[in-house]
Amino acid sequence: MRQSLATATFVFSSLLSLAVGESLQARSQYDSTCKEIEQAISSASALYWPGLGSYYKDIGHWATSSSAQAACSVEPGTAEDVGKILQILSANNTPFAVKGGGHASNPGFSSTEGVHIALYRFSSVTYNQAAQTADVGAGLIWDDVYSALEPYSVNIIGGRVTGVGIAGFTLGGGFSWKTNQYGLTVDNLTGFELVLPNGTVAEVTQSSHPDLFWGLKGGFNNFGIVTKFTLKTYAQTEVWGGIILVTEDHLDDLTAATLKFTQTVTDPKAAILPTYNFLIGEPGATVILFYDYPTAPEGIFDDFLAIPAFSKDIGTRTFLDLVLASPSNATSPARGIFHTVSLLKYSPAIMDALVNETKFWGERLSLKSGTFISYDVEPFLPDIFSHAPENSSAYPSSRSSSLLPLNIYYAYSDAGQDETFWDAARQSAAQLTAVAVADGQDVADAPLYGNYAIFDTPLERIYGQNVDALKALKAKYDPEGVMALAGGWKF
Ligand SMILES: Cc1cc2nc3c(=O)[nH]c(=O)nc-3n(C[C@H](O)[C@H](O)[C@H](O)COP(=O)(O)OP(=O)(O)OC[C@H]3O[C@@H](n4cnc5c(N)ncnc54)[C@H](O)[C@@H]3O)c2cc1C
Ligand SMILES: *[C@@H]1O[C@H](CO)[C@@H](O)[C@H](O)[C@H]1NC(C)=O
Ligand SMILES: *[C@@H]1O[C@H](CO)[C@@H](O)[C@H](O)[C@H]1NC(C)=O
Ligand SMILES: *[C@@H]1O[C@H](CO)[C@@H](O)[C@H](O)[C@H]1NC(C)=O
Ligand SMILES: *[C@@H]1O[C@H](CO)[C@@H](O)[C@H](O)[C@H]1NC(C)=O
Ligand SMILES: *[C@@H]1O[C@H](CO)[C@@H](O)[C@H](O)[C@H]1NC(C)=O
Repeated sequence: MRQSLATATFVFSSLLSLAVGESLQARSQYDSTCKEIEQAISSASALYWPGLGSYYKDIGHWATSSSAQAACSVEPGTAEDVGKILQILSANNTPFAVKGGGHASNPGFSSTEGVHIALYRFSSVTYNQAAQTADVGAGLIWDDVYSALEPYSVNIIGGRVTGVGIAGFTLGGGFSWKTNQYGLTVDNLTGFELVLPNGTVAEVTQSSHPDLFWGLKGGFNNFGIVTKFTLKTYAQTEVWGGIILVTEDHLDDLTAATLKFTQTVTDPKAAILPTYNFLIGEPGATVILFYDYPTAPEGIFDDFLAIPAFSKDIGTRTFLDLVLASPSNATSPARGIFHTVSLLKYSPAIMDALVNETKFWGERLSLKSGTFISYDVEPFLPDIFSHAPENSSAYPSSRSSSLLPLNIYYAYSDAGQDETFWDAARQSAAQLTAVAVADGQDVADAPLYGNYAIFDTPLERIYGQNVDALKALKAKYDPEGVMALAGGWKF
């Protein structure tokens, strides 16, 4: 039933966007920029006008509220063409968007009414066995990368659930199943192919451009458009884990198992991702279990496995298969918003408060077209920021203590309720922060994760003491403010 409803909504909204797209095309003030780009790009690239299927694929997002009707979309096929496009956008002062995997949770971060750049054609994965690195095209999703590396029994530090883009994920930080062992994705980067705001293509490494190398690790699209990432690879065996669905009557069991896990498990190969949610009028939960080996040691996950679950999909499988087991797109297409709280630990007070928030906002937001109200518990080990030196990346801005993100995610259908959901996410984050502070955690002003924070979060709350250095870096590499024509966190 839910499935067919979702399909119907999707068909309807596609028809709607077709109509809106065509009327926009007729009068977009940006058509002349599109035509100029169409003339300038090589045959490796293509430009699409509204009405074509490729156009809708290009402007599409995981959350429909993150999409906008662009005047045209362009799929550059070479870094040189990206350079030409940036020069034309700059000369015409035309707003644009840069989209990798399209999982931005904030409206306008990778969408525009101007020229929409979709990076799908940067899609190669090249494993360099001697260097133990992989070159990965910026238009890929993690699923593709895991699939391409599987034959070599290697892997990189990437996304935990299906469908997430590598570009925004990597340029923002990157919390992975392997983060307890190896840190964030930004900690395991060795280079970028970057198209600078003036259109010049640069290879950016620690030795070639130490300042840009630092800034790109957290700085998103402020310094140009990345077309390729070089990331360290690790040996990858099959893994153990999967997903368990828990009904309301066993939420307490899940909470108890989660608290015990956070208090006792120090094995960095083990990770969990419990999600408390409110779906079709009822509270419930899922928990994804992960162990980075074909079998898990006894004891670590016993309490989770003992919960009388609604359904259980657990076992030895490939890393990709575990990622595919996640239900991350089960609610799409829907509007959506993320927000976040940074914690030092998941304590009993925090767990109680987030279960209460799930019910409190679930009941209220269901009446406002809410379809999925959820809180992700991300209990990483307390030393995850210590895998790289202090100030080796723009994010995290301080590594003196590790911050554990808590993700708030609301899905809904009524565009007229955007403000309601945004406000609720802000209020809920404030409530959870207050609970953490009362619980003795010094997180009132702790930096928030840029890939989870709501769009009006002040830059200082994400980049802390690094804001001034990032502004200076932006002034150096983008004196004309070209990248300010694209959405996102702006220095
Ligand atoms: C279902 C789901 C699961 C998630 N799971 C995790 C998780 O496990 N761990 C985690 O850390 N985060 C997670 N996230 C958050 C995720 O990291 C961000 O949504 C991320 O920005 C997605 O990247 P993208 O390329 O898909 O997004 P996009 O929407 O394409 O881009 C996001 C931002 O990055 C910029 N950008 C994209 N590509 C480039 C480029 N090549 N050059 C310059 N700028 C670029 C865009 O302009 C935009 O501002 C998840 C998000 C979702 C929706
Ligand atoms: C990955 O990065 C972390 C932090 O920089 C580092 O500790 C680790 O050694 C890196 N891994 C490899 C294989 O270099
Ligand atoms: C962090 O590193 C950047 C880039 O090297 C530098 O500009 C900045 O001053 C450093 N910040 C601190 C606090 O040292
Ligand atoms: C979720 O995404 C996967 C991979 O993109 C796709 O195969 C699957 O059909 C999607 N599921 C739903 C319910 O949309
Ligand atoms: C539950 O959450 C609401 C909204 O944040 C809050 O007002 C209320 O005090 C909470 N109740 C408990 C028992 O914590
Ligand atoms: C583009 O910017 C880079 C970095 O600021 C600079 O080195 C290069 O010379 C510039 N290219 C042109 C054509 O101005």
